Amino acid sequence: MMDYNFDVNKVPTPCYIVDESALIRNLEILRGVSERTGAKILLAQKAFSCYHLYPMIGEYLAGTACSGLFEAKLGYEEMGKENHVFSAAYRESEIDEIISYCGHIIFNSFTQLDRYRDRVLAAGKKIGLRINPEHSTQEGHEIYDPCSPKSRLGITRRNFHDDDLSGVTGLHFHTLCEQNSDDLETTLDAIEDKFGDILPKMEWINFGGGHHITREDYDIPRLERCIRRMQEKYGLEVFLEPGEAIALNAGWLVTEVLDLTENDMPIAILDTSAACHMPDVLEMPYRPPLVGSGESGEKKYSYRLGSQTCLAGDVIGEYSFDEPLKIGDRLVFGDMAIYSMVKNNTFNGMPLPHILLLKKDGSFGTLRSFGYEDFKERL
Ligand SMILES: Cc1ncc(COP(=O)(O)O)c(C=O)c1O
Repeated sequence: MMDYNFDVNKVPTPCYIVDESALIRNLEILRGVSERTGAKILLAQKAFSCYHLYPMIGEYLAGTACSGLFEAKLGYEEMGKENHVFSAAYRESEIDEIISYCGHIIFNSFTQLDRYRDRVLAAGKKIGLRINPEHSTQEGHEIYDPCSPKSRLGITRRNFHDDDLSGVTGLHFHTLCEQNSDDLETTLDAIEDKFGDILPKMEWINFGGGHHITREDYDIPRLERCIRRMQEKYGLEVFLEPGEAIALNAGWLVTEVLDLTENDMPIAILDTSAACHMPDVLEMPYRPPLVGSGESGEKKYSYRLGSQTCLAGDVIGEYSFDEPLKIGDRLVFGDMAIYSMVKNNTFNGMPLPHILLLKKDGSFGTLRSFGYEDFKERL
């Protein structure tokens, strides 16, 4: 049963609350995997770039994974440990700075490899190639499936020329999304099937992200067998770069009920927005957990929860409660640390939620507050 242990009336709304104890619980699980297997785990910053916590996260993990220059710089400045970068293409004007921040540079094509290889090697940094094993393990989520037809992410075997791999020491794949280790296992089968002749020529492999390692039903022993398989069979150093698993269920979003209306069913207008503050609710789509609520119709009072914005579809979902909602009530959504503050926006001039830290001792710290200037200065 999801619950929180803070006074909901003492925080400004809307706000994200990063839960330090929950984060540590996840990090301990991840560190356990590293300690038992020797695999290095990196924080995929795209999921959770809350750099205020990087020093603490760096006590448990090997470093950061980045998607381009800005994340590369952030990881370098704020964690300062191993820093791996993958981008579908790097621009000429940025590559030297990226190389200066990262130890591992992963390319998505042989054109990019040929263009920048000498510069990476001259800087003494490592080169990897992202492969596409063409092994889809998710259905109905094409937007999150790098193995979907015509995907631009990763080099397929047909397009993989092994005649000039000079300087290339590693392979990278990222094919999973919120998945368990059985899907990793079949992905490794596909990789051995298609790239089995390349693996012995490499020194390291990066399993990408999408491993829901800190979810309750995740099969960690199977993950560890997958890691050992690559270590023992091919002598590879193994990296993983999960994002979600690091801050899974480690954040809240607190919002206030601003108004109650009716159209075929009761509607509550909140001071948060799916479109602005939790875009994955509309993109994935998914129904975020809400403390103390049930499915629509499950408890006595059902509501459609929507936002202040103009977008008709800016609806978080339909939920039910034991008591009727009142204007001024506070609601607490769960699992709001990942892909939330990194993706939010100020559409309609909606304020960005403040970012608070719920510390281990139960006290609050404010990491960031936002106002009108933050809206204006982006435009
Ligand atoms: C290359 C790469 N690595 C790591 C990740 C992190 O994935 P997740 O947050 O699902 O673990 C992603 C997510 O898109 C990715 O594209």
